[in-house]
Amino acid sequence: MNAIVVVDQNWAIGRDNDLLFSLPTDMKRFRSLTLGGTVILGRRTLDSFPGGNPLPKRRNIVITHCVDFAREGAEVVSSPAAALEAAAGTPQDQLWVIGGGSVYAALLSQCRRACVTRVDAAAEGADSFFPNLDKLPGWAVESISPPLTENGLTYRFYDYVNTKL
Ligand SMILES: NC(=O)c1ccc[n+]([C@@H]2O[C@H](COP(=O)([O-])OP(=O)(O)OC[C@H]3O[C@@H](n4cnc5c(N)ncnc54)[C@H](OP(=O)(O)O)[C@@H]3O)[C@@H](O)[C@H]2O)c1
Repeated sequence: MNAIVVVDQNWAIGRDNDLLFSLPTDMKRFRSLTLGGTVILGRRTLDSFPGGNPLPKRRNIVITHCVDFAREGAEVVSSPAAALEAAAGTPQDQLWVIGGGSVYAALLSQCRRACVTRVDAAAEGADSFFPNLDKLPGWAVESISPPLTENGLTYRFYDYVNTKL
């Protein structure tokens, strides 16, 4: 299983249930990596998508406490553990934890890889964060892409691996 995320210099990921940055090339990469696979996400992240709709051409497993939550095209489960059960049998490289903060926190330790887009900027007023993998025991950088600049922002794709798995 992989995590995929965009972070700022302080590992912030969101504000007011929205993303911090608009990075078209990063979005295309996210789409091409996850397309055809299974994504695991929290109910708030689902609500942040356009129209609150699940991501097309992917199996969407949504975690919520709400027993009667339903959304067309989404599979609803009641905990991170239930999400993993639902995804059992999915090839590990096609299983993606896509946020938000609470779901990353719950499932990161079970991810083998984290694809982290690191933006050279500090977003103001962020209220959701990803764990700082440079300080988390067991995580190591495997590769770093050359920098890209878009919308006045410079960013790089970091591949981290979980050496504990
Ligand atoms: N930068 C990025 O790459 C990235 C990616 C994804 C999201 N984000 C951002 O992250 C922020 C959202 O993160 P978040 O932490 O607020 O929300 P979230 O993780 O997307 O969703 C939280 C919701 O998931 C459900 N949930 C979480 N843990 C659960 C558990 N143990 N059992 C049952 N249900 C559980 C609950 O839903 P109910 O309230 O329905 O019970 C909870 O309110 C937004 O700003 C979003 O834009 C950023």
